[in-house]
Amino acid sequence: MGKLTIVVDNYPHDSRLKRDWGFSAYIEDRGIKLLFDLGNRSEIFMHNVKALGIDLSMIDCLVISHPDYDHVGGLDEFLVKNKKAGVFVPEGFDVGMIDKMEKSGHEVFVSKEPMDVCGRFKITGPVTPSTRPEHSLFFEGEGGVWIVAGCSHPKPWNIINKVKEIAGKTPYVYIGGYHFFRMFDDELQQAVRKVRDTEIEKVAPCHCTGEEGRRLFKEVFDKDYIEVGVGSVLEF
Ligand SMILES: [Fe+2]
Ligand SMILES: [Fe+2]
Repeated sequence: MGKLTIVVDNYPHDSRLKRDWGFSAYIEDRGIKLLFDLGNRSEIFMHNVKALGIDLSMIDCLVISHPDYDHVGGLDEFLVKNKKAGVFVPEGFDVGMIDKMEKSGHEVFVSKEPMDVCGRFKITGPVTPSTRPEHSLFFEGEGGVWIVAGCSHPKPWNIINKVKEIAGKTPYVYIGGYHFFRMFDDELQQAVRKVRDTEIEKVAPCHCTGEEGRRLFKEVFDKDYIEVGVGSVLEF
């Protein structure tokens, strides 16, 4: 059985870990170890990595959703500790960061369209239109297709629909930042409704979803709302 652990997040869960405005998740399945995003402040990322007993040197693939500071904070530490991971970034990613990763000996794959990651996972390729170049991770798991997203700058419903198109079925669960933290009232209600209308079964909103957004998701999805925060473990 696969396991997803949230390494960095805005919301609390495991008291041994520190919260931060940012996101990172560690996924392990069938001996494959994948890291999705790298949090914000590197000292918090490293604190949580150690507390969770994650060995960065053993990670096979690093997927970076997009180049915002709250998703790449642990990059320098990662490059020092890990010498073997293939790195997956979306087209339009920061060229300076790509250069740095290549100079440290990492193979960098730039996604223009959907791609396989480590033979077990997939990425969407950049989803458009979007204010930032961003791709999301997805894979088959318990219940159906699981999606892991960083900030959802292309909007969660567009990401869900892209995965639906690639996978040929409605995804099961969407974990990560929904980027609703600046939305209130009607705009927020409409946004949650648009996610509901995709017919995705479960939601696990964290990071930049916002308090109000999480509250509304909980109300609308009821038992299909999964409350997650830093250190949450989801088995698939
Ligand atoms: Fe973010
Ligand atoms: Fe972002």
